[in-house]
Amino acid sequence: MLNSEPNHQPKIRIREMTIDDLPHVYHIGENIFTAEYSSTLYRTWDEYEITTLFNSDNELCLVAELNDQIAGFALGTTVDKHHSAWKYGYLVWLGVRKDVQMHNIGERLFREIKRRMREQGARIIIIDTDAENRAAINFFKKHGFGNVEKHVYMSMNLDKTKKPPGKRNG
Ligand SMILES: CC(C)(COP(=O)(O)OP(=O)(O)OC[C@H]1O[C@@H](n2cnc3c(N)ncnc32)[C@H](O)[C@@H]1OP(=O)(O)O)[C@@H](O)C(=O)NCCC(=O)NCCS
Repeated sequence: MLNSEPNHQPKIRIREMTIDDLPHVYHIGENIFTAEYSSTLYRTWDEYEITTLFNSDNELCLVAELNDQIAGFALGTTVDKHHSAWKYGYLVWLGVRKDVQMHNIGERLFREIKRRMREQGARIIIIDTDAENRAAINFFKKHGFGNVEKHVYMSMNLDKTKKPPGKRNG
């Protein structure tokens, strides 16, 4: 918990994620990226998300420590697009423990991952989130994101046992 006394500055430290942090990061994410959060996103929070990003670009896997406990994380990667001179930084997951949100931890994580992405040659950062996620949308707008692109997700049921209405067996 955070000390709510006036003028008390919480001690936040941002550092690279290590293998020992993986379970902590996973459990924090489980509480934030619930089924409700990702119902319309094609990505779901699972252990493979963390390990894949950690193995591919561990300089862009950061954690925030508050009083020596993991309070949040930022997991990203960079993307080189074919036929484009532009390298993108993709901030895939940014999460802060619910009990310590709104204390600049997200901001500190974002600033550091932005610095690292720039250092790696990225010229644009992209994020994606649900259209109803006000906290994230406000957060990213506050940090200079614009050009909101609407995206449509479509789905098709591949369950072959279901037959179209009106069709008989044989
Ligand atoms: C988005 C998130 C990472 C922000 O982290 P945080 O540490 O709480 O954010 P900070 O304290 O650094 O910044 C606060 C700013 O974020 C925005 N914000 C955060 N929570 C908000 C909320 N519940 N409602 C509205 N705006 C919110 C505001 O812009 C706020 O600034 P303001 O107080 O000047 O309006 C955090 O809310 C979170 O983990 N959300 C769930 C996961 C998620 O949606 N991740 C982003 C997509 S991957």
